[in-house]
Amino acid sequence: MRVDVITIFPEYVEPLRAALLGRAIERGLVSLGVHDLRNWTHDVHRAVDDSPYGGGPGMVMKPQVWGDALDEVCAGDEPPRLVVPTPAGIPFTQEKAREYAALPRLVFACGRYEGIDQRVIDDAARRMVVDEVSIGDYVLVGGEVAVLAIVEAVARLLPGVLGNPRSAEEDSFSDGLLEGPSYTRPEVWRELAVPDVLRSGNHAAIDRWRRDRALERTLDRRPDLLAALPEGALDQRDQAL
Ligand code: ADE
Repeated sequence: MRVDVITIFPEYVEPLRAALLGRAIERGLVSLGVHDLRNWTHDVHRAVDDSPYGGGPGMVMKPQVWGDALDEVCAGDEPPRLVVPTPAGIPFTQEKAREYAALPRLVFACGRYEGIDQRVIDDAARRMVVDEVSIGDYVLVGGEVAVLAIVEAVARLLPGVLGNPRSAEEDSFSDGLLEGPSYTRPEVWRELAVPDVLRSGNHAAIDRWRRDRALERTLDRRPDLLAALPEGALDQRDQAL
């Protein structure tokens, strides 16, 4: 997969080259380009923003600079998916992560200040699919941290990136529920014991216990997820809980 990020703070997304993703890059599973938006400015001040039409606080990122940057970075035979992180976007979910993991090319446009002139998005959408996405109901200073989160969520789904592919298949959200608690040795720690069933060797009982804890936790922390499960996702035992 090819990932390009356009930002006025290239150093902010350098952590993408560390840890899990760094290894994926070294092994050729992901290739990453980070581009400084100011390379496409036209004036001595290298200005990327201007005051908003209609007034109000903050600044808006200039369309000419973004237009030239996207023309160059998005060039090629097949248009990439353009992802614009913004608190005003559609929610970025595990389902979106799976969708992105199946694409050959992603380009991220990191806005700062009050956002990017909307015509940049409208113009790009004439040539490619553009997703304005939010990573949660809070406001960050810019899109860079959202890109770190999105790229990590996508990269771990690529074949060969995780050591054990079952980790991606069985984690929270893969069945629409939050994952329950996990334990490792020792059996008793600070007088707290690992639940007996996990040491029983009875795999049917272990699966049932894990399912019950996942249901309890989801009901407690994210009842909205339970309500959104498709019809038939809960069996009779689930419903009794
Ligand atoms: N930029 C600022 N806040 C954001 C958020 N919550 N999600 C994605 N991009 C953002």
